[in-house]
Formats: sequence, structure tokens, C-alpha cells
Amino acid sequence: MKKAFYVTTPIYYPSGNLHIGHAYTTTLADVISRYKKEKGYEVFFLTGSDEHGQKIEQKAQENNLSPKEYVDGIVKGFVDLWKILDIEYDRFIRTTDDDHVFAVKEIFSSLLEKDLIYPSTYKGKYCISCEEFLTSEQMDETFHHNVCGKEAGDFEEETYMLRVSKFQKYLQDLFATNFLEPETRKKEMLNNFINNDLEDLSVTRVGFNWGIQIKENPNHVIYVWLDALSNYITALGYKSNDDSLLKKFWSEDSEVLQIIGKEITRFHSIYWPVMLESLGLKTPDKLLSHGWILSGDKKMSKSIGNVLDPVEIINTYSSDALRFYIINNLPTDKDGSFTNDLFIESFNNNLANNVGNLISRVSNMIIKYFDGQLPKKDTSNHWLVQKGFETIEDYKKLMDIYNMSEATQLVLKLGQECNKYIEDSKPWVLEKEGKNDELLEVLSVLQKNIVIISYLLKPILVKTYPSMIKQMGLKPEEINFENMKSNFDYEKIIDKLVLFERIK
Ligand code: ME8
Ligand code: MG
Repeated sequence: MKKAFYVTTPIYYPSGNLHIGHAYTTTLADVISRYKKEKGYEVFFLTGSDEHGQKIEQKAQENNLSPKEYVDGIVKGFVDLWKILDIEYDRFIRTTDDDHVFAVKEIFSSLLEKDLIYPSTYKGKYCISCEEFLTSEQMDETFHHNVCGKEAGDFEEETYMLRVSKFQKYLQDLFATNFLEPETRKKEMLNNFINNDLEDLSVTRVGFNWGIQIKENPNHVIYVWLDALSNYITALGYKSNDDSLLKKFWSEDSEVLQIIGKEITRFHSIYWPVMLESLGLKTPDKLLSHGWILSGDKKMSKSIGNVLDPVEIINTYSSDALRFYIINNLPTDKDGSFTNDLFIESFNNNLANNVGNLISRVSNMIIKYFDGQLPKKDTSNHWLVQKGFETIEDYKKLMDIYNMSEATQLVLKLGQECNKYIEDSKPWVLEKEGKNDELLEVLSVLQKNIVIISYLLKPILVKTYPSMIKQMGLKPEEINFENMKSNFDYEKIIDKLVLFERIK
């Protein structure tokens, strides 16, 4: 049986259009999902939209629309963006979907029944923009939230609470494992929340209507986060009459990877595991909490308004160019920058000058010196082909720990070595001097390595990959991790192509 892999992104708020920050997380998930498929996994990739809550209700009012009409319009934009960015998800869940709404009510009832949820009142500070109850550590002296800079409001309501405090030991044990990546965020969660005074969480609201009503008390709607976090299991059929997907993808044998931005680590590493434990389900194998894309020194965000539009970037450059920048230039363990200049520089250096140039030089020489087809030659013992084989193994090791940026950089390094090998071995001189055997060896070694480079970039360069492979005289579908090292039968190369045109 194939091993199952489940990858999720946050479900984004349709309080405005998505920006590069959202494209970042979703592209990470898409690339790892495509890689896992290449490795033979059965994959389920989930993304979606988080449609309830006070902020959305307010936005809809500002636009003179009902909340549902308002989110329908915005969510269409999400789906359109994922399409042009070549995001291949298996389900797009909306928290207004009937099956989700039904299951969330059931989840609430079952936790209430187990006395893990209880009626109470809550008094404190609330940030509407982030839909989050704030502790004093999360605000400055004037009660402005340290993530979005908005002023938190006073809040006192009748509510139901989740007994998070009962789970301190459970969370301490969980945090002794390496489920949360990177390490640095663990300390923050332990110091600020888990080991400090772990408080129960308010999970219903009575002050507004746009949410999932609980069955037990019609005045209460479920707090967005309980509603939102549940999406990861309701999408697989939890509490429905067909939970076969859940059994396959959220089981002891499956690999579950959840990718989020660091500002929602608290919800995903504390409240979500508490919910799962309460429901008798496993915690995800890995919670990858990535850094922020900054604009200047601030988080790029809708509420600050300093955002870049991915649609514009895709239309100006290409989806592959954007996917490449995200994976290569934005390692997940740090905050990163996204500017036009950095984007163009990376494209030109890595795709145009390195990979693109390599492919065009080699295919041109094969056309020019061998009429487009090299006589079959086994080069597997050549040092540079050996290097290519090593790159495959090292790349897999990094991808298997979700370090996509370093994995990509290994591939680019192989590209540089191939370009240097061309300079050093001077095929044009070999040709002039009639050293045909040597010339054949050099070009065969390069052709083999280009196939390796192209295949390892396949999860990123979705649109260009087929041309890269065809330009080496192979069919894109015929290459896989199993046969990568074999001696291919290359077909005749006819066209000269420029794959990554330099951006001026
Ligand atoms: O938080 N840099 O939705 P949201 C990196 N609905 N990633 C960024 C980013 C940036 N500048 N800006 C946004 C919510 N992101 C909730 C989630 S999940 C059960 C509910 C990405 O629309 C990153 O993944 O505010 C971040 O966590 C997410 O978008 C927040 O999206
Ligand atoms: Mg946010």
C-alpha cells in the first residue's frame, strides 16, 4: 500500500484579496505535495477559506453586502489565484460548506458532553483584526496588538470555555518532541503560554451573528478559531457518514504536515493539539511555522496595507518565476524580503544565467556537433555524473525534512558546476581538434546532469519542466526517482529554445 501524506495550509480570511504572504505558504505546500507524489506517496493537499467572524461581518457591512455575498466574491479570487499559480490542491474547504458546519456543531457538542467545554463568562482584550484574545505580553502599554498594530478592544461576554488548562502536562510532553519547527518558536510558546499560566480559551461569542450557531444555545456562535482549526479534519469527513479519507490521511501510519505563518503558532501548537487530544485524534507529525515576508521591517499584511499582488507578478513574469523565488529565496526558518529588484536578480542569476543558459548551450552543441542526437554512451562513472547522483540523494534528504530552499540551492549548485565544466572542457576546442570521443563524453555528461537538474526542479517549475526535458530529447512523463540513474535513450533534439529569458 502507498504511504499517505496529508499537507495543509491555513485557511485564509476573505477579508480582502490574497497577497504574496499567502502565496508563499500555499506554494510551499504545493511543492512539497508534488515532491511527495514523485516519491510515490498518496497525497491529499488541503487549502481553503476561513469565512466566519466579526471582522468579515464588518467588512461585508462596509460593502453593503450580506456576509455570504461578500465572501463569495472574494473567495472566487482565491480560487482564481491558485489556478494561475498552478496550485494543485485536492480540496478547497470553505467554513461555510454544509459538511463543515455540520461537523463543527458535532465537535462542539461532543466536547461539551465530555465537560471539556463549559459555560462561563470572559473578560479581557480582543483584537478583531486578528480574531484573537490577547494576553498582556501581546500588547504594548496602549493596548495595541504587537502583530498587526491595531488597538485591542475591551471585551466582556457570556461564553463557553475550552478547558485548555487541563492539558498542561500533555502540552509539555508534546513540546518535548520535535513536532514544531523551528525550535526557536517552541521556547516562545513554552515561556509565554504553556509554562506560564495556561488559560482556558473562550470558544463561543454572543456579540455578533456571522458564525456557526451551537445547537445547545442559539445565542452563541462558535469562535472563529474553533471553527477554523476543525477544517483540517472536517475536510476529510470527520463526523460525516464517510470518514474513509480521515482514516487514510489522519492516522498513525500517515504523515501529516501542517504549514502556517508564525503569528498563528499559538493556535496551531496549543489549542489545536488540545482539541485533537480531546477528540482522540493524533497530533500532526510536523507543524512547520514559517517566518514572515516583510516589507521594510514590517510584516506584509492586509491590515497594514503594504502588500504585493501575486496576480500582477504572475502576469508580468510567470507562475514558475514566482514559485521559484518563493521556494529558493525564502527559507522558512527566517523572515524574508520580497521586492521587485530581489525577484529579478534571483530570476536572472539562477534561472536565466545558470539553468536556462546551461540547457541552451548544451542543446545547441548537441544540435551543432551531433545533428541533435548523441550516440548512446554510459557516463555513470564520470565524476560529474556521480556528483549529480549525490545531489539527488542530498536533495531528497533535505526535501524529506521540508527544507525546500536548501534542496533547491543544491540543484542550482550542480548547475553552476556544469557551466564551469563547459568552460573547463571547452567542447568547441575538442570539436576543432577532432577529439570526438572526448566531445561525446563531455556532452553526454552534461545531458545527463541537465535531466537530473530538471527533474529535481519539477515540483517548482511546473510549466517549464516539460520543455526542459524535451530540450534534452526525453519525454517529461518518463522520468522518475526510480529510473533517474539509468542510461536513457535520448531522441533527436531539433528546436533551439530559450527557456528563461533574462529580465531587463
Ligand atoms: O490567520 N509572510 O488567516 P490570514 C508570510 N484565518 N506568510 C504570510 C504573510 C506574510 N507577510 N501574510 C500572510 C488566518 N501569510 C486564519 C487562519 S487556519 C485554521 C486559520 C500567510 O488570512 C501565513 O500562512 O490572516 C499566515 O499564517 C496566513 O497567511 C494568515 O492568513
Ligand atoms: Mg492574519
